[in-house]
Amino acid sequence: LITPVLLCGGSGTRLWPLSRKSYPKQFAQFLGEESLFQEAAKRVSGDGFAAPVAVTGDGFRFIVAEQLDHCGIRAAGILIEPEGRNTAPAAAAAALHLAQTNPQALMLLVPADHAIPDAQGFRDAVKTGARAAVQGQIVTFGIQPTRAETGYGWLEAGEETHPGVNALARFIEKPDQAKAETLFADDRYLWNAGVFLTRADTLIAAFEDHAPDILEGTRAAMEAATPDLGFLRIDATLWGQVRAESLDYAVMEQARDVSVVRFCGGWSDLGSWEAVWQESPQDESGNALAGLATAIDCENTLLRSESDEIELVGIGLKNVVAVAMRDAVLVADLTDSQSVRRAVDTLKARG
Ligand code: GDD
Ligand code: MG
Repeated sequence: LITPVLLCGGSGTRLWPLSRKSYPKQFAQFLGEESLFQEAAKRVSGDGFAAPVAVTGDGFRFIVAEQLDHCGIRAAGILIEPEGRNTAPAAAAAALHLAQTNPQALMLLVPADHAIPDAQGFRDAVKTGARAAVQGQIVTFGIQPTRAETGYGWLEAGEETHPGVNALARFIEKPDQAKAETLFADDRYLWNAGVFLTRADTLIAAFEDHAPDILEGTRAAMEAATPDLGFLRIDATLWGQVRAESLDYAVMEQARDVSVVRFCGGWSDLGSWEAVWQESPQDESGNALAGLATAIDCENTLLRSESDEIELVGIGLKNVVAVAMRDAVLVADLTDSQSVRRAVDTLKARG
């Protein structure tokens, strides 16, 4: 059985105002009835999967419990991070937690904020990777790139080692623009989906080799963790001393014995409004509308009213995103939607 580890502690500032500090994007409804977090949890449930472990922030613990409950999933554990220290400590905490009962437990680290419409295809890819993971490989999942993206990790696929599994020749996290263009032009390179399949002891050993400080800090904080109403609360003081770093930089760029499985189904990191627009159903002029929204003579716009009380009407717009909430409205250039996090920074600075 594979234990999913649902990483759901990020804050998703580029999707303001729908994504808030107190209610980040993974818990909001984006494309359907359910939240991205619920979709992610369901995607890795059923045949072959054990009950998941969620790793999240203090402020989100009840949202996590309630949303899992709503889709009929019972968590095997919910680890509470007193503060976000990025994905490396979160992954190490989950590995140490699982290793307590079974050091060789297979764990699948899954981000909670992706759109993957072909859930069955995704589960099949995971099962393909499991053959290498049980033998001590860290398995990554590669997506066919469609642009020179600097916000992702890139994977260089080497020789095939098991059916459908290749050795990973190189892992390059978030290259600069020039580098991304070289990688995009070379068909050996894939995008890193941000999903990792590994035995708990394999990952712990990789931390020992490449980020022992993060492992030791996390171990100390986990040993001092306290059970709290069905949650496991990691010790705040010790956790606050752990180096904040992503798993990609801390471990994956250096790790040996890494494999890659190609995933050919649709995949999107819903990291920006432009990505949400791309993934949403569109009319013949490329407009994606949600809630009480109307587009007149518009082209390639994303108009979302997130309130039953707000009619949102766009006239003569092109490449614009407008999102209306009861207490905040965003109007921006759709193609510059990476800049939305600046709105959050500006508001934060204003207090
Ligand atoms: N529990 C917890 N704690 N979760 C976290 C934390 C944290 O401190 N920080 C981030 N996460 C969660 C996010 O909510 C998200 O689901 C996932 O971990 C990945 O974090 P991101 O911050 O979104 O990473 P990224 O998108 O910049 O890069 C990663 O994903 C890309 C694909 O989407 C990397 O793995 C890249 O290599 C990859 O291409
Ligand atoms: Mg992301």
